[in-house]
Amino acid sequence: MTTQELKKAFEAAYGKPAEAVYFAPGRVNLIGEHTDYNGGPVFPCALSFGTRLLIAKNDKKVMNFKSLNLPEVKSLKFDQLTTRLEKSWVNYPLGVMAQFIKRGKTFTDGYDILIWGDVPNGAGLSSSAALEVVTAFALNDQMKAGFSRADLALIGQKAEHEFALVNCGIMDQFVSAHGAKDHAVYLDTTTLEYELVPVKLEGVKIVISNTHSPHKLDSGAYNQRVAECKKAVEQLNKVRPIKFLAELTEADFKKIESAITDPVAHKRARHVVGEVQRTSDAVKALKAGNLKLFGKLMNASHVSLRDDYEVTGPELDCMAEEAWKIDGVIGSRMTGGGFGGCTVSLVKDEAIDTFIKKVGANYEKRIGIKPDFYIAEIGDGATRLA
Ligand code: GLA
Repeated sequence: MTTQELKKAFEAAYGKPAEAVYFAPGRVNLIGEHTDYNGGPVFPCALSFGTRLLIAKNDKKVMNFKSLNLPEVKSLKFDQLTTRLEKSWVNYPLGVMAQFIKRGKTFTDGYDILIWGDVPNGAGLSSSAALEVVTAFALNDQMKAGFSRADLALIGQKAEHEFALVNCGIMDQFVSAHGAKDHAVYLDTTTLEYELVPVKLEGVKIVISNTHSPHKLDSGAYNQRVAECKKAVEQLNKVRPIKFLAELTEADFKKIESAITDPVAHKRARHVVGEVQRTSDAVKALKAGNLKLFGKLMNASHVSLRDDYEVTGPELDCMAEEAWKIDGVIGSRMTGGGFGGCTVSLVKDEAIDTFIKKVGANYEKRIGIKPDFYIAEIGDGATRLA
């Protein structure tokens, strides 16, 4: 929907005009998966699809939440802003409000809020981070709260931990707040230092393939991976004091890996240590214009996420395998948390039609679900649109 259409929808919903319109994007991660809560690097891009938030003050001292995507509406008083709801999309904006309060901000005005997003839900493209970040960005602007973009990302991450109960890393919220058109964000998740790296792919496009898999990344499986990595760190601490797995090079890891006696934790750690190396190699390769190497590293990332981290599943594996068969595919891997969701592929322009036709048909034949394909446009981070 255009900003004009959204403004009309706001008037229809609340009987008065919106005072401002904000946007925050979803993301696709090129490489660096399940490294962000292990102190490692990530390399995501903000997408041109995302979430819009329209807002106007009300004089009733209540927060009203409506969405054009979901029917549930909510009206909450100020003293209800720090309590999570059972199963509700409102937990994302609400969790952000709770963090504002925790950080000493006081709400004196109520707000009427309308949300609309075009990030496909449950596709692993961070529709939830987009909703958190757009809320944080809007409140920061409306209340003149003075938070930096990094603060807004951290507020979104905390909202996810406390109101969505997913112990996620910082990647999704950070890129939604800091993304830039035609750039990927090379982020050090321990210091939050980052570099915007141009993604100018001559004759190559980023294709996102949506498996529409029914297996979503649920908080249980994700939090379990977080716990397994913590366990690996604890066991490694018997022989070497580290805070995060990403502090180890592959050579370091080989020397001390036998300290991890739990075989599952060992595999998880091996993925993380390898993925950290692959991510820094991939960024170097991209900067040097070596897309072939970048693609190889993407493929290796998928294999490691499949075999060691075990977050792919038949749908993502099928999508990647079918992509690897196509001439003109430079690399292909699952992106995001995993289980269901999307793959990301680098595909030569002349191979895109064949890619969509063949991967689409073979995936549907093998899995029985019709996939969707999007050509990614790398967009900017959170912004005020009107
Ligand atoms: C989800 C989380 C991120 C990150 C990815 C995996 O998207 O929200 O913090 O851990 O999974 O890389």
